[in-house]
Amino acid sequence: MEFKSVWFGKDNFQEFEYYDYRYCAYKGLLVEGLVEPVKIIQNLEFGKGGTLWDASYVLAKYLESMDLVGKKVVELGAGTGLPSILCAIKGADVVATDLADSIPLTNMNIQENIDKVRGSIRTAELDWCNENCLEELGEINWDYVIFSDVFYLPSLVADFARTLSFLAKRHTQIVFTYKFRVAHTVNPFLKSFESYTQINLDSVCNSIHYNKNIHMISMTKSS
Ligand SMILES: C[S@@+](CC[C@H](N)C(=O)[O-])C[C@H]1O[C@@H](n2cnc3c(N)ncnc32)[C@H](O)[C@@H]1O
Repeated sequence: MEFKSVWFGKDNFQEFEYYDYRYCAYKGLLVEGLVEPVKIIQNLEFGKGGTLWDASYVLAKYLESMDLVGKKVVELGAGTGLPSILCAIKGADVVATDLADSIPLTNMNIQENIDKVRGSIRTAELDWCNENCLEELGEINWDYVIFSDVFYLPSLVADFARTLSFLAKRHTQIVFTYKFRVAHTVNPFLKSFESYTQINLDSVCNSIHYNKNIHMISMTKSS
């Protein structure tokens, strides 16, 4: 497959201002500007998870500044899997999760980058609405729970909040990015995190990406 080189950084404002789906004409992306270029295959047949969303680039870019060697990381709604792959390249032991239908594309992208991985990476089905998935994933002391751009169906808020609360222990760092599109989809998710201790990382987002509607929060369970 041919990979078209793309850069999601601050400097491409004019060219790419409006289109989340802009790259779908090019199915193979070589995502530049990270610690290593990462190969990502997009495929719209996989629905929303088939596109690399800008918020996931911002999350990956932030995580590359962390020392992740040996850290246990789980990503929720990973889709194409860029942040997970980046963490594994940085030496973390990663589980990229999503709905069963999305996992084949995540696996494909992991295979495209496996030669660069210094830690480990695998996928697991984790449907937030199916508690059996959490049981199958098992009790793991995650260092990081990460996710990007998963706030789009208010009907999923309660199940998502339950999933997050199950995965996060007191020491777990939860780091997420989202694009603010409309209040009624985003705000219920944010409200469900009110009991967590939060740090707003918008200034970091602004240093990474031109789009002021992309936000980032780091949070832990309050003691
Ligand atoms: C907008 S995409 C974001 C994909 C990726 N995180 C990114 O930012 O490029 C939303 C993701 O959430 C996943 N998702 C939606 N409902 C889900 C559920 N009930 N359980 C687990 N994942 C779900 C989708 O399959 C999709 O991969």
